Amino acid sequence: MRLLTRYCDFKILGGKRSFFGRKKYDLGTCNLVEPGIISPERAVPDHIVKPDYYFGYKPPGSDDGQPEIKTVDQIHGMRESCRLAANILKKTCDITKEGLTTDEIDAYVHNEVIKANAYPSPLRYMGFPKSVCTSVNNVACHGIPDDRKLMNGDIINIDITVYYKGYHGDCSRTVLIGNVDERGCHLVSSTEASLNEAIRCCGPGQALCVIGRTISRFAKRRKLTVMPAFLGHGIGSYFHGPPNIFHFKNDYPGTMLPGMTYTIEPVLTLGDIEAEVLEDGWTAVSVDNARSAQFEHTILITEDGCEVLTLPD
Ligand code: MF3
Ligand code: CO
Ligand code: CO
Repeated sequence: MRLLTRYCDFKILGGKRSFFGRKKYDLGTCNLVEPGIISPERAVPDHIVKPDYYFGYKPPGSDDGQPEIKTVDQIHGMRESCRLAANILKKTCDITKEGLTTDEIDAYVHNEVIKANAYPSPLRYMGFPKSVCTSVNNVACHGIPDDRKLMNGDIINIDITVYYKGYHGDCSRTVLIGNVDERGCHLVSSTEASLNEAIRCCGPGQALCVIGRTISRFAKRRKLTVMPAFLGHGIGSYFHGPPNIFHFKNDYPGTMLPGMTYTIEPVLTLGDIEAEVLEDGWTAVSVDNARSAQFEHTILITEDGCEVLTLPD
């Protein structure tokens, strides 16, 4: 696909430049990331209960159909898997620092998940080769852990999903490595705030499209852009299912109902909306090399509001 220069230190688009008929973006400074070397698959011990796709069964590909309304037992299962995902995400963010490779992060996550008697959901999901997604700088989403060392000034999204007692719990955060420039800090804090704003709007009887409206309005106020290609999703005994959660302004149908569990996971960028997937079939990068940030929670719609399930203890 595209040839990206590894570790090339540069001021993207010379900082601020205007193109005829295009918007102005101040992209700040960062290191451009391109895929590195991926280590062999990590083993999962026999006693860990694995999802069907581990054995080569294709997960149900369709996002159509009605969102599942969870029973009390299913909600209990979701609470447990989500809390585990959140606790491992917190620990992982705490150890993430300059000099660590994303493969070392993968090893850490893999071992923590297995120690907790859970399965790292990304591994073998639709052929994904690793146990966590690590997306650095211009990688918007689904970055594959590799031998690249984290550098001062990087921003990295760590997206952890665990499969525990039959349920997936999914969450992610973007972490600052060392001294990140002002634009990067603005991007990361605003993206987290946009997720929190959207969560505040969730409750029974609300239209699902208030999520996208809220996030896009918030992004606009912060002079940032939502990358529309990346959606949240229903989640349960399956990793991805209905409803689709759009993070951009839309008027698509659908209502939040008690017992629904879904993720909200906006990707905001300093640059333009376009993303493309590299030849590895996973790594989604911004076309303009701009940085993006992402935060993700799994939430439950309750009788009187919503509950964030992916909160650490
Ligand atoms: N955790 C991601 C999400 O938020 C999905 C990763 S799919 C994988 O939906 F295969 F890359 F792991
Ligand atoms: Co995720
Ligand atoms: Co998700």
